[in-house]
Amino acid sequence: MVDVDQYRVKEEPYYRTVSDEVTLYEAAYAARMPVMLKGPTGCGKTRFVEYIAWKLQKPLITIACHEDMTASDLVGRFLLDATGTRWQDGPLTIAARIGAICYLDEVVEARQDTTVVIHPLTDHRRNLPLEKKGELVTAHPDFQLVISYNPGYQSLMKDLKQSTKQRFGALDFDYPAAEVEAEIVAHETGINMTVAEKLVAIAHRARNLKGHGLDEGISTRLLVYAGNLIAKNIDPKSACHMTLVRPLTDDPDMRDTLDAAVNTYF
Ligand SMILES: Nc1ncnc2c1ncn2[C@@H]1O[C@H](COP(=O)(O)OP(=O)(O)OP(=O)(O)O)[C@@H](O)[C@H]1O
Ligand SMILES: [Mg+2]
Repeated sequence: MVDVDQYRVKEEPYYRTVSDEVTLYEAAYAARMPVMLKGPTGCGKTRFVEYIAWKLQKPLITIACHEDMTASDLVGRFLLDATGTRWQDGPLTIAARIGAICYLDEVVEARQDTTVVIHPLTDHRRNLPLEKKGELVTAHPDFQLVISYNPGYQSLMKDLKQSTKQRFGALDFDYPAAEVEAEIVAHETGINMTVAEKLVAIAHRARNLKGHGLDEGISTRLLVYAGNLIAKNIDPKSACHMTLVRPLTDDPDMRDTLDAAVNTYF
């Protein structure tokens, strides 16, 4: 039997509500509507799901999707051992059986023929056929599917089919407003609000460069990294170079531009 407790979020994760996302998600969950979270990297999607699982007191099973993922990786497979063959449920099947919130992270990375296995679970059928095993799993009443993806990164080749997209309600995520983001960075790292506000101001400068030499602006995650170093008494300039400039770009001109933004504030 599966130990459900291993999938429980034990302590309340810190999640700063940004808009009406918690209310909307809870209503969607009550209707068992599958939900899609869209937004750039490091803006709080994963933290939000952990918080929701804790708030709803449901087990959470996270699956990181990738190109080589097969339907068997999600659903399960027969394994050979000394006594013969035995079936092993995949994470999606476990989630459907125990009534977990199942979080498919970066779902566009998976191939479309893999993604279609979620179709019967995300419409009125709420079941999962285990074709190789010859079993039809009916989803537990608490089961819900949530997926995340980063709009903009994927090419035309790598997008969800409309028949997949149109099985979900969607919530847009983005980097929060400056005061809220500073509050998050201060809370996560223990630095004071004045320093957190400066980090956020640097991020705003970099975000303006998105599409003008930068593929993506500085994420909240990187601001938290910067704050963590500053909290360890690293000189703010060095902390910013390591966490806000170097990870983002190798282009010397762009690095100079970002360094200049850092030097304006520290
Ligand atoms: N609203 C928020 N409340 C609390 N922390 C937040 C919030 N938004 C962002 N964070 C902080 O930013 C970090 C990155 O967020 P998270 O890992 O949830 O990003 P993500 O959107 O899942 O990114 P990716 O698409 O790369 O997986 C978190 O670890 C947390 O410290
Ligand atoms: Mg994430």
